[in-house]
Amino acid sequence: MATILVTGCAGFIGSHITERLLRREDFVIGVDNFDPLFYGREIKERNLRWAKEQKNFVFFEADICDREAMQQIFGRYRPQKIVHLAALAGVVPSLERPIDYERVNVFGTVILLELSRLYGVEMFVFASSSSVYGADTKAPFKESEPAVRPISPYGATKRMGEIIAYTFHHLHGLPITCLRFFTVYGPRQRPDLVIHKFARYIVKGKDVPIYGDGTSQRDYTYIDDIVDGIEVALDKPMGYEIINLGCGTPVILLDMVEMLERALGKKAKLQFLPMPKTEPPLTHADITKAQRLLDYRPKVRIDEGIPVFVEWFLRELRDGLEI
Ligand SMILES: NC(=O)c1ccc[n+]([C@@H]2O[C@H](COP(=O)([O-])OP(=O)(O)OC[C@H]3O[C@@H](n4cnc5c(N)ncnc54)[C@H](O)[C@@H]3O)[C@@H](O)[C@H]2O)c1
Repeated sequence: MATILVTGCAGFIGSHITERLLRREDFVIGVDNFDPLFYGREIKERNLRWAKEQKNFVFFEADICDREAMQQIFGRYRPQKIVHLAALAGVVPSLERPIDYERVNVFGTVILLELSRLYGVEMFVFASSSSVYGADTKAPFKESEPAVRPISPYGATKRMGEIIAYTFHHLHGLPITCLRFFTVYGPRQRPDLVIHKFARYIVKGKDVPIYGDGTSQRDYTYIDDIVDGIEVALDKPMGYEIINLGCGTPVILLDMVEMLERALGKKAKLQFLPMPKTEPPLTHADITKAQRLLDYRPKVRIDEGIPVFVEWFLRELRDGLEI
């Protein structure tokens, strides 16, 4: 049993990894500030409901950029491991709010790295993103690619986080693994993300925005596979590593919409729009490094994952919950 700090614990991925760690009887300190930029507090409170009933969980509503608040948590609980997920996470809003993104995703990360060093943390997992690869990386994307041309402020802040994390590893020996997640989906998926957003629009009969001609491709990754990868990474300090966590199989946007239509039993009204500059035409993870270092084998194909997502989504709708 380890004491583990999970930042962003009320979010989509954070609430899932928190549950996994609580079930295996780690002691989890959850931190989240219920940031309202993407979705409301009510959903995040709901994500945390089960965790809050567990004896091995404590929660702090706090901003990772508040150094004093973070220091108090580190001082009181002395976490052995950190899963750092708290971030401003969407690509498109980062265009309008680069300064906010830099503050939370870089400054906030440095605060956690510095406290990890001061308090002798044994393992730090940093949530990075496929967005670091930009639009000119050769597919499938390998971790050895330079990834120095991200095409959104969001992607740039994630790359900055990886780089400063390396410096902390180099100078202080802090073991750090940066996991580059590829379009994560499943129950509790962020409402602003494709799949969840499209499901909502299809059900409400609203236009579904398709950027470009609909042939762009994404490597959609099911939440349980991501949680498997985080769990192994957390238990296996390896110095400093960057590892892709994807499914390894890109899917064409219009094919994904068809799968959603089938699962929802309703046709989408497509609205074709120009491709924004923040959107790469393709994401495709090379997952051989994850297989080698984390024994990572994604188990859920998109045609299996979408029906599970839709089942959850329709249940939330039936319960009259805001989604
Ligand atoms: N979902 C994906 O497809 C995806 C893909 C690549 C990378 N990621 C990364 O994974 C992590 C989790 O993503 P998610 O989809 O679960 O997003 P999310 O928005 O659901 O979760 C992030 C959580 O962080 C919290 N937060 C934001 N700013 C904070 C601050 N200053 N202090 C404390 N808490 C703060 C938010 O309130 C939210 O609950 C993020 O770092 C994101 O960049 C996600």
